[in-house]
Amino acid sequence: MKLVDSFGRRINYLRLSVTDRCNLRCRYCMPAGGVEKLGHGDILSYEELFRIARAAVTIGVEKIRITGGEPLVRKGIVAFLERVAAIPGLRQLVLTTNGLLLPEMAADLRAAGVQRLNISLDSLKAETFRAITRTGDVQRVLAGIDAARAAGFPPPKINMVVMRGVNDDEVVEFARLTIDRPYTVRYIEYMPATREENWQQLCIPAHEILGRITAVYELEPVEKGAMAGPSRDFRIRGAAGTIGVISAVSGHFCNECNRIRVTSTGTAKSCLFSDEGLDLKPFLGGDDPAPLEDALRRLVECKPARHGMDAEKAEHTAFSMAKIGG
Ligand code: GTP
Ligand code: 5AD
Ligand code: SF4
Repeated sequence: MKLVDSFGRRINYLRLSVTDRCNLRCRYCMPAGGVEKLGHGDILSYEELFRIARAAVTIGVEKIRITGGEPLVRKGIVAFLERVAAIPGLRQLVLTTNGLLLPEMAADLRAAGVQRLNISLDSLKAETFRAITRTGDVQRVLAGIDAARAAGFPPPKINMVVMRGVNDDEVVEFARLTIDRPYTVRYIEYMPATREENWQQLCIPAHEILGRITAVYELEPVEKGAMAGPSRDFRIRGAAGTIGVISAVSGHFCNECNRIRVTSTGTAKSCLFSDEGLDLKPFLGGDDPAPLEDALRRLVECKPARHGMDAEKAEHTAFSMAKIGG
């Protein structure tokens, strides 16, 4: 079944956040003390999350990305993934992680049926990584990347949020990683989720990021696959891996958007930057999946044409990426 919104966009991708907790405290994502503790009962149970995943697949979703916070910190995640992977009609189950727990968990995730991992890594330098994440050790993330490879995962996509004056001196270094390794390095424009004062200064437009790389290496464009996300991909001539840019701010890709989101508290969002969401909780009880499927269809019908953010202005209400899962 095909799920199409009122602008003719095919919606086949659900981003499902299973927790807003995290074992890092990235400055652009959460306060130093972590996220406010959610009340018991606010966070959806695995059974409820599973119902949402199954209903989404019934109405036409083919790819589910599990996000957080950090999805691997939630207890019982492997058994949940195993159930989701077995939903008939689901073609891809993928996960975005900060990589810290992969040395312990990569093999179990692979066995559970997760097909691919996107790993967040904003710096290769110990001090910069710590300054961004407040608590993290970059060596653990690198060990996580190796563990994922050893467990048989395909080469990961590595997400770097580029911030002027913070980690932008490493743009070319990250591209260089792809010469010998088959990774995809994706540069993400810094998004003003929390609408802090100086966000325009932090955000580096994709064309500037690409300019810095093409000053050193020749890039050739790479075709993207049918269920691909928003990145525009390139390859350094002759390199084993690829690079990509996600121009969330400077060149919105809303016309190609194929996704909806659900937070760990059961709010469905048709756009990352929508101010209001649809509370799915009233549709999660009972044996009949039809009301939940209808609610998700209504959400898709109301998906806006685009978000109201560009390089100068942000019109949305401030939100936490950890709640929505990016
Ligand atoms: P693939 O499916 O592997 O291509 O991944 P993805 O890029 O969709 O997902 P990932 O979790 O790796 O997200 C990478 C970055 O893209 C994050 O910073 C997300 O917040 C951002 N992103 C993903 N989807 C959207 C979107 O619909 N709109 C905007 N503005 N940013 C998005
Ligand atoms: N701007 C851009 N990307 C962000 N992420 C989290 N917050 C932001 C932001 N403000 C990224 C994370 C992770 C992905 C899911 O979202 O680094 O790679
Ligand atoms: Fe955790 Fe990701 Fe937020 Fe960093 S950006 S604190 S890794 S949820």
